[in-house]
Amino acid sequence: MNMQMSIPDLEAKRDQKIKLSIKGISKNYGSATVLQSLDLDVRNGELLTLLGPSGSGKTTLLQIICGLTDPTSGSLVIDGRDQTRLPVNQRDIGVVFQHYALFPHLTVAENVAFPLQMRHVARDEIKRRVEDALAMVNLSHVGERFPKALSGGQQQRVALARCLVYRPGVILMDEPLGALDRKLRETMQMEIKRIHRETGATIIFVTHDQEEALALSDRICLMNDGRIAQIDRPQVVYDQPANRFAAEFIGLSNIFEGELVANGLVTPDGPIPFDAEASASRCMMVRPEHVEFGKEGIGYFNATVVESIYAGSSSLVMAKLASGLTILSQRPASSTDIAIGSVVGVSWTPNDVRFLQ
Ligand SMILES: Nc1ncnc2c1ncn2[C@@H]1O[C@H](COP(=O)(O)OP(=O)(O)OP(=O)(O)O)[C@@H](O)[C@H]1O
Ligand SMILES: [Mg+2]
Repeated sequence: MNMQMSIPDLEAKRDQKIKLSIKGISKNYGSATVLQSLDLDVRNGELLTLLGPSGSGKTTLLQIICGLTDPTSGSLVIDGRDQTRLPVNQRDIGVVFQHYALFPHLTVAENVAFPLQMRHVARDEIKRRVEDALAMVNLSHVGERFPKALSGGQQQRVALARCLVYRPGVILMDEPLGALDRKLRETMQMEIKRIHRETGATIIFVTHDQEEALALSDRICLMNDGRIAQIDRPQVVYDQPANRFAAEFIGLSNIFEGELVANGLVTPDGPIPFDAEASASRCMMVRPEHVEFGKEGIGYFNATVVESIYAGSSSLVMAKLASGLTILSQRPASSTDIAIGSVVGVSWTPNDVRFLQ
């Protein structure tokens, strides 16, 4: 037998190594079920985001992983070992929360040193590792300052350094950038990506911001109502949403429902012909960037333009169909203006249609 593996094989093997397994985890609070028998494998060294609306169970799941909350049923396996009942301080997990929670009476360097002191690391070693951690977040120059003399983004980076300094195998971040303005958020997203690459840590990152999830993740775990709606690479979740929830939660979408017939879908606005063998779903979606507003009478239906929103590199044009359904088309900002009130023909390429469950 040939025992040699090619490089892609080896890479595939490494990627598939599981760091953490959530097996049938449920959580009830009284009669309310907050997590519904969840199964999830997190791969070694991946950055997985938990994305979902408020109340979908993201924080609850993180708290179960780090040991602050007990699951009602199910188990948690980390590094091949059942850790469901292991106390918080015995898990190899670091946590960064939305509110940085630095100690105000300690300097930045002392804040970062704190977890190492708790672990009785030698003084020389602490000094070296604090310097390394501060360099990692580009804050070597502020070690002697107190937290109140830092900006919000700098404080968040100190919180990150304090988590990185003891090199946990798994880092959990619960909306760590939620309190920052947009520009800082974007800068911090780049920092987190870089740190992830440099440390190889497994990161589970919670957000309810879909753009943040698309920008950061190796995979997105989309949650809805205590269940996983879809888990996949960002491109796949965006381009091939598994269901209506996923299509509506990530990106903008035009969704049509109707009666499935032999050669297409009959909607209240008229038929959308397609090869019905391609799908047995009565719900389909087209992203706005694939919708063309052209000459009246050309395409699937006519619509009346009601609004146009300029967004720098593109414009989003909204038009109403006869049924009252609004349809969105995203156009390059350079394209010719469409007058509000004008009637357009709506079309798209059949390849750009996605059928939803
Ligand atoms: N200690 C608790 N007792 C009762 N219900 C709780 C408790 N903690 C959370 N819940 C409920 O569990 C559900 C999930 O909460 P969770 O905090 O996990 O949501 P989330 O996805 O993190 O939301 P957000 O985006 O708002 O942070 C919510 O309906 C919440 O009210
Ligand atoms: Mg939360």
